[in-house]
Amino acid sequence: MAALAHRIVSAAVVAATMSPVDTFYPAALNDTSYITNSSIGTYGGTYSAPANKLSGGSPYGVYDYCTMPHPRVSEYTMPSDPHAKLVHLEYMQRHQRRTMYNLAPGGENQPFDCSTFEGFLYGASTGAADAIPMYADVYTDPANPFVDGLPYVNTTCFFPQLTTGGLLDGIQHGRDLWALYGAKLGIIPRSINEHVWLRSTSSPLTQQSAGGVTHGIWPSHSGAVPLRQQSGGVDTVNSGYPCDARSSTLASIQATDAFQAHLDVTADLRAALGDILGATDSDWQSTFDHFSDNFQARLCNGYQLPCKFTDPSKCVSAAQAEEVFRAGDWEWQHYWRNNALAQQYIQLTEGLFIGEIIGRLQAATTSKQQYAYAHTFIHDNDLGPILGAFGISQMRWPAMGSNIAIEIWESKGSYYARVLYCGHVMRTIHGDLDWMPVNTLVNILEPYVPTDIVAQCNA
Ligand SMILES: *[C@@H]1O[C@H](CO)[C@@H](O)[C@H](O)[C@H]1NC(C)=O
Ligand SMILES: *[C@@H]1O[C@H](CO)[C@@H](O)[C@H](O)[C@H]1NC(C)=O
Ligand SMILES: *[C@@H]1O[C@H](CO)[C@@H](O)[C@H](O)[C@H]1NC(C)=O
Repeated sequence: MAALAHRIVSAAVVAATMSPVDTFYPAALNDTSYITNSSIGTYGGTYSAPANKLSGGSPYGVYDYCTMPHPRVSEYTMPSDPHAKLVHLEYMQRHQRRTMYNLAPGGENQPFDCSTFEGFLYGASTGAADAIPMYADVYTDPANPFVDGLPYVNTTCFFPQLTTGGLLDGIQHGRDLWALYGAKLGIIPRSINEHVWLRSTSSPLTQQSAGGVTHGIWPSHSGAVPLRQQSGGVDTVNSGYPCDARSSTLASIQATDAFQAHLDVTADLRAALGDILGATDSDWQSTFDHFSDNFQARLCNGYQLPCKFTDPSKCVSAAQAEEVFRAGDWEWQHYWRNNALAQQYIQLTEGLFIGEIIGRLQAATTSKQQYAYAHTFIHDNDLGPILGAFGISQMRWPAMGSNIAIEIWESKGSYYARVLYCGHVMRTIHGDLDWMPVNTLVNILEPYVPTDIVAQCNA
């Protein structure tokens, strides 16, 4: 409980001195002192949410790892041009909050409960055969001989599934999108029709988010809905196509002096956490990805920070968790903004998808655009490079439900773009992406689209 109180105080102190949007842009993020300076705390961010309940974020609009803010009627500002009419909404989001990918190798001291979540997977055949919708009901047989050994985790979850809290957040996300972009601005149609484009990755997490968000948008819809996915092996999101150069570029980025410096300043922290979680191998020690993933999954779903499986008196402290989160933010800024290979890395990771987005934006300025509203459900590893391509001023880890709304407006025959990141006008090295000719935005993104991705990946 002391840990929780500490987090809330730390958020409140910063919130008093900066506006919600400021919590997205820590000025010192390029420097490793951002990681080690414990007085920064969470930089006004929130890292806790209740189990199995909706999480609203408080105050609304701050960087909230568990439930990032999204566009809502109450905070939304209309463009100053009174003649402007919204003609296309290109929306993309990370899935909502979830269980972890990375269980503590030494054993998880708290069981993770997913018994209120039904993860569906079943098949039916158009016109030929219907089927009973089936969901996975995960259980453990106590007679299973593997159950006694570490790192067995007594759980009803299939990791990294969405949680009930994440589903509820997704439904609210959808309701708010409908109120703004449907009821008020009229770009989301009343029912799912040929002007709507919905796509996810092949990961169940993104499909589970799509089901919740679309239910929030169209609550009276009944029946199944096609969710587009590119075929396995060539998917342009979620690193879905083979690319050796992508991994070798990442290796080069992780070999920089700056990256090594961030490992040096965190050597004691990593050793202490390695001991508590039994996490001493390089998967856990070479970046903060796994520690961060494990801690946020607990804190964002009503659990405590972990303790050592074999010694309940040795627990991860709130101060250690905050340093992990700051180190994670530093890494994201390093990967996608602050290294010499960032442009190449973005091209290799996300360039094809960025090209698809540009295509839809350009089509929206002609009569050729079929889709008024495109919504893609993706991952942090997709949002990061896209934010990097926009030139976001500072990049904290794109957290649960992070979203980018690219709005295309028409006014007196000209087309303008505006870009919101988690409901706020995005701050970038090109200035605020508030109102600009569509071509100006396209020119910002275009250098990130590879001319020959196959050759570049095999180079
Ligand atoms: C630590 O961060 C605080 C702001 O939270 C700042 O005032 C102080 O200068 C920083 N200290 C160092 C050594 O960077
Ligand atoms: C797992 O947890 C459940 C619920 O707490 C408990 O009833 C069950 O006995 C546990 N199973 C094992 C194998 O520890
Ligand atoms: C951090 O680094 C990026 C990329 O090198 C740069 O664009 C940005 O201005 C830097 N931010 C600060 C506050 O120095």
